[in-house]
Amino acid sequence: MALSHVLLSVALFAVLSFRIIVDWSKLRKAPGPVLAGFTDLWRAYQQYNGRMREKLLDLHARHGPIVRYGVRCISISDPEVINIVYGSRAGFVTADSYKVLLGYHNGKDIPSLVSTRDEKQHGALRRSVANAFTPTAVLDYEKWIDMTIRELLESVARKQTFDLTSMILWYTMDAAARFSFGTSLGCLSAEDDVGGSIQLIRDRFRHWGLWSSYPAIERLVYRNSFFKPAKRAPSSIASVASARLKERISNDRGAKEGKDTSATPDLLQRFLEASNEFPQALDGPGIVGMLMSTISGAADTTASTAVVMLFYLLKNPEVLRKLEAELADAGIQEIPAFAEVGKLPYLNAVLRESMRVFTIGTFPNGAARAVHLNKTVFGEDSDVFRPERWLTDDREQLRLMEAAHVGFSRGRRSCLGQNIAVLSIKKVIPALITKFKLSLVDPDASLEADCAPAAVILEPIYVKSKIRV
Ligand code: HEM
Repeated sequence: MALSHVLLSVALFAVLSFRIIVDWSKLRKAPGPVLAGFTDLWRAYQQYNGRMREKLLDLHARHGPIVRYGVRCISISDPEVINIVYGSRAGFVTADSYKVLLGYHNGKDIPSLVSTRDEKQHGALRRSVANAFTPTAVLDYEKWIDMTIRELLESVARKQTFDLTSMILWYTMDAAARFSFGTSLGCLSAEDDVGGSIQLIRDRFRHWGLWSSYPAIERLVYRNSFFKPAKRAPSSIASVASARLKERISNDRGAKEGKDTSATPDLLQRFLEASNEFPQALDGPGIVGMLMSTISGAADTTASTAVVMLFYLLKNPEVLRKLEAELADAGIQEIPAFAEVGKLPYLNAVLRESMRVFTIGTFPNGAARAVHLNKTVFGEDSDVFRPERWLTDDREQLRLMEAAHVGFSRGRRSCLGQNIAVLSIKKVIPALITKFKLSLVDPDASLEADCAPAAVILEPIYVKSKIRV
């Protein structure tokens, strides 16, 4: 008996050691922390502490464009590789780490767009809704954005100082709910996370960041029939989205029966049309899932990008002055139409530069930050906020920089909502700086963020505001 235990232990030890050595040897040519080659605990620890982005930068600075940061993970900071990895024929598939993003209900995984790992399924779902996100289609949602900007301007007008981070997040949350299903969540008017939706989205991003290194263990802990996770009340987004879907379906039936219902250009309307055309790819629960995906994907990401952009403008008065001059020359007043601001070169440069210098993704595209700060492409001052770099006459340099900008990712999995995000940001920033004179309460303030979740969560930034006369 004792002997069999010993033999079993030895056999187990041998199998484990063999597995570790095989795993280590597969990527042994890529330099990086020794521990990271043997166990994913290293990267789990760095992500948990929100230091993964910094560590990757350090590793690239020390070892060059290819580094190892996990048993089966490498980070590449060379932009040349972007098209190879994201190209449709490259054969690279979405990593296991996305599994932890799947919803879970009654013992079943519930996929969203981003967590659908099967490429065929993902492609079919994405194609079914793609028409709702084209540059022309998103102009239909402009009125929802205008409505929310108006509310934002009214809220700011009532304040002398306020936390920019929260204010802009309430704006993006309400705007996202409006362009998704035509109803605001009421965050701006309540100045609060109404229904806990913001927290729920952040919990999801945090869960993704924290468990991405150990999806198999995450499955054991959160997705098994013995230790059922505590049931959570549906967030206000889920319940409002389901209610609006039911309402819209009955309105549509009414329309078919000759009752008067006007077409509502929001995402829900487009998803219903897509569901009629592609019933197999998008059914009823799929529509609610898509609405949740778009609101979750739209809120913190758009807010952080807009806040970072405003922060850099306030920190760099010369840049702010140039942007104000561009807006004045274009005759911009209060809430501009996208047609007026969409192509303004300096506004465009400020947005691109903000997204480059402060990448908001931490994991799994944390390597984007290393690409964005690549000195070979962006020069020795790659860590400096300098929008003018995008206004160069050197077409080859511009092409290189554009190719290295991955703020919205690339290829089949690139951000589906990027046209909406750009529309929203290019309207709200001019609206705010045209109507108010904003300044930082603490001129020495720096951008602080929690980088443990998959997208950064910015700390409060207090600003003073005065209405311009
Ligand atoms: C400035 C704001 C935004 C940034 C920086 C951003 C960034 C990204 C990135 C990097 C991805 C790829 C994620 C991955 O594969 O790991 C992504 C995907 C996605 N984004 Fe955005 N996003 C923004 C705004 C939005 C908005 C406004 C929407 C919706 C209206 C949206 C909806 C989505 C969806 C649905 C996906 C999943 C696409 C797929 O897997 O096919 N995003 N976004």
